Amino acid sequence: MSQFSYQDGVLHAEGVSLAAIAEQYGTPTYVYSKAQLLANFDSYQNACAGRDALVCYAMKANSNLAVLNLLARRGAGFDIVSGGELLRVIAAGGDAKKVIFSGVGKTVAEMRLALEHDILCFNVESIPELHRLNDVAGSMGKKARVSLRVNPNVDAKTHPYIATGLKANKFGVAYTDALETYRTAAKLPHLDVAGIDCHIGSQLLDDAPLLEALDRLIELIDQLDAEGIHLHHLDLGGGLGIDYGDEEDSAPVPVGDYLGRVFARIDAWRKERYDGKPIKVCFEPGRSIVGDTGVLVTRVEFLKHGEEKNFCIVDAAMNDMARPALYQAWMDMQPVVQSKADVATYDVVGPVCESGDWLARDRALSVEAGDLLAMKTAGAYGMTMASNYNTRGRAAELIVDGTQVHVVRQRENPADLFALESIIK
Ligand code: LLP
Repeated sequence: MSQFSYQDGVLHAEGVSLAAIAEQYGTPTYVYSKAQLLANFDSYQNACAGRDALVCYAMKANSNLAVLNLLARRGAGFDIVSGGELLRVIAAGGDAKKVIFSGVGKTVAEMRLALEHDILCFNVESIPELHRLNDVAGSMGKKARVSLRVNPNVDAKTHPYIATGLKANKFGVAYTDALETYRTAAKLPHLDVAGIDCHIGSQLLDDAPLLEALDRLIELIDQLDAEGIHLHHLDLGGGLGIDYGDEEDSAPVPVGDYLGRVFARIDAWRKERYDGKPIKVCFEPGRSIVGDTGVLVTRVEFLKHGEEKNFCIVDAAMNDMARPALYQAWMDMQPVVQSKADVATYDVVGPVCESGDWLARDRALSVEAGDLLAMKTAGAYGMTMASNYNTRGRAAELIVDGTQVHVVRQRENPADLFALESIIK
């Protein structure tokens, strides 16, 4: 059940009216539901109950400290892609020992930081990265736990910008090079070869490609085992899609169903080949944990009736939510207060000086200047991808918990945006 619903004609987050929130805190504002966040995380945790499994939330989807803290208190690990994200985990009270470090371009400084904090594992994506990590760990008198991100060459059937498991992508070690790369890793003295991982893409509605990737990892684990390289964990990455309300999208597979199929496959394989000895399983979900926990509330500044199109100009823009501009993503746009005014078809656009600055196209809306709109399902890759383009301060972020509202990030003040800059003589 969604925590965002109309009550007496006004859209609410849990027990709080979004109109009241806009009045008090201004717009544009991201509003998250704590109950939705925890329910989404629990759907992973419950499916993993009683198993040696770790859900490492991919914090690139939404890295607000309060969000991280709520998940950390629930037992989450974290999938990070930068030293900055590791510092966020620590600042939010997360456990660095449950951190997995992904990404193709880890710097020496980032490796050092992660080793100092004794993270769970580095997901290594190339041979040069193996050597760099081996050197850094050696210089610190440590051993780094590594997993190789293998590119299983599976078609995730999603938008090309967010498909990552094909041969043509920059990510991971090619499937055909994986064995050789493991042999290299196993010989490096300051590495501890611990696992294998993959991440084939994002917003996958069907789990068939994920299960195909799992089969490919299993094949490799068996081949490595035969060579005396025994892996302790397998990490399937993230990628499960969510319902954006677009009619073209079929409903995404429920988390419990997907994890059920993963564990059934793994159990059968372990029984057949390893006398039932379990293997630790990790997941790196991002969008499916936070996507439907948030909305972006924005106010209509003007209605403009052009020759070909009607424009609904709002105070949120591509700098607040980049997904439509970047991926032509379809995001649902709903009035905060249901109205009986005439319906017209609008492009909902922001004030940024780019034709690509749009949030929704060809939507039937009954709106007037001054009304509020809510962009639904905006909790993932919204605020984390926001920028200050046009010297626009980023939106405030709030978490609603029942009838309570918490400001978890203040609206940025334009003066702060140029505070690090200086003028030369
Ligand atoms: N693990 C790795 C290594 C990843 O690269 C990603 C996402 C995830 C996990 C989490 O995937 P998720 O469960 O969220 O699908 N900005 C794009 C999505 C980019 C995804 C990047 N990688 C969007 O707004 O659609």
